[in-house]
Amino acid sequence: MYSDKKLSNCSSLAERFAQGTNSFSVREKAKLLYEIRIGERKDASSIEWLNDLMRNGALELGHIDNEMYCDLLEGKLSSKDLKTFLDAYYWGSGYGFQRVVLPLAAKRKVNDVWKSYIKDIIYEENTPSSHCGIFKEFIENIGVELSAMPRSAERFIESMNKGYQNNLDYALGYALGIETEADFQIALIYISLARVYEPEVNKTSFFEIHLDEYGEEMHAQETCQCIEAILVECDGKRECVEEGFRQAIIDTMNYMHDIKNEIVKAKQPEMSL
Ligand SMILES: [Fe+2]
Ligand SMILES: [Fe+2]
Repeated sequence: MYSDKKLSNCSSLAERFAQGTNSFSVREKAKLLYEIRIGERKDASSIEWLNDLMRNGALELGHIDNEMYCDLLEGKLSSKDLKTFLDAYYWGSGYGFQRVVLPLAAKRKVNDVWKSYIKDIIYEENTPSSHCGIFKEFIENIGVELSAMPRSAERFIESMNKGYQNNLDYALGYALGIETEADFQIALIYISLARVYEPEVNKTSFFEIHLDEYGEEMHAQETCQCIEAILVECDGKRECVEEGFRQAIIDTMNYMHDIKNEIVKAKQPEMSL
């Protein structure tokens, strides 16, 4: 969609991120990554407050340097910890979003704006093939053995369902939060994993698909177009869109917190047995 490629692929992202970050604290690293992925983006909307929400919503909630993200960015996780993370991430953000949340959202009988929006997102999540399938193949390649769905993922799926099933303005704000945050989140996971699993990370198409200009950045633009279409009818919907957006960030933050707790638990010897 955009003609200039900016930092639209993995290698240029890694290069830019590596420049001068050696002396950075982990919080400064998170901030730089956020700036690269979200702060420096072109405006996705013609509505100023919507652009502000996308740029600042996650920052204002203190989400971008949550403990889980800091551990990932700092390379603090052992390979077992990383595998626990990837397992939970697959079940919630991969399988859960694509196979549970979106199909349920597609069943909503609201209006054509919503219907065509969800249809487009489902199509993109399956192009060139299922994204959660590509992710599953990637993590199995690095030795993750998928468990049953952990509680962190179950809880995140429940939260996302509440968001995507809420009133239309709220649901679109929620979707915008998920799509905006995903860009930063996937970039952070890419940077963190590339250090440890470089050949596998370079072999999978998962990161390139999401970090080029047709990935999450385009999903955010599409969500904005729908929000603009529904806002034409009435101005009072802004608060609802903002509320949905913020809840999506809070739910993602809780999900990361829950995964972190599961990692800690998985490390403990089986004392209770
Ligand atoms: Fe995807
Ligand atoms: Fe997306």
